[in-house]
Amino acid sequence: MTAKPIVSPKFPADLLQNRLPHHIAVIMDGNGRWAQRRGLPRIMGHQRGVDTLKSLLRCCNDWGISALTAYAFSTENWGRPLEEVEFLMTLFERVLRKELKEMMEENVRIRFVGNLASLPASLQEEIDRSMADTQNNTGIQFTVATNYGGRQEIVHACQAIAQKVEAGLLKTEEIDETVLEKHLYTAGLSYPDLLIRTSGEMRISNFLLWQMAYAEIYVTPTLWPDFDQAELHKALLDYQQRERRFGKI
Ligand code: IPE
Ligand code: IPE
Ligand code: MG
Repeated sequence: MTAKPIVSPKFPADLLQNRLPHHIAVIMDGNGRWAQRRGLPRIMGHQRGVDTLKSLLRCCNDWGISALTAYAFSTENWGRPLEEVEFLMTLFERVLRKELKEMMEENVRIRFVGNLASLPASLQEEIDRSMADTQNNTGIQFTVATNYGGRQEIVHACQAIAQKVEAGLLKTEEIDETVLEKHLYTAGLSYPDLLIRTSGEMRISNFLLWQMAYAEIYVTPTLWPDFDQAELHKALLDYQQRERRFGKI
């Protein structure tokens, strides 16, 4: 009897399995430009971007990466034209409803982070359902940052901590990094090892400010809808060349 391979047979031979990032975060940027270059409305880029995310999630799950976090909508993205914002909210809801079955089959655990209470009620219902249904799955931890802002997350954590101090449940001198991280939306999730940003912008746009302190950053000019398995492979090869020093020598 032959032993079952640990990861998918498609796993690239030139990657080291024991040097993969445990957690990849992605800033899925460039959907609008992708569409505009084709003379299409921006929303078509968002539509295509969903397919990219689906394939990336499947690939990460197959290759044994334990967590993927995707930036879907920032607290600043409300400043876009109403039509685009409404399209995105409807798209998130539609995709969640349609993909839940497949996520169950693929053993994905989905979680949303951000100020979820300000999202449309019907979207919140789909979010709650997807998180509840998949919570006992044991495959990849898939986190979607929606109405997420790193600064807002830290303020929210500070408020929650201050309330505990006021209620006498916590002393000021007990507040340390561990306490703060337990009050972030991402509590319990490991920090990203690798941040990938598509479409060339060299910034983090208010994404996971606390959590990203020691992430390796990879920026590619490829626009998000074109970010495929070969692009992930390139990012991982680049990551495996890095020497992560964490301030040491
Ligand atoms: C990223 O693509 C998706 C979201 C922010 C929702 P963009 O919509 O920012 O695309 P560009 O940057 O305008 O090309
Ligand atoms: C970051 O992309 C937010 C998401 C991908 C959801 P943006 O397109 O909003 O970022 P900026 O405006 O270029 O910094
Ligand atoms: Mg953008």
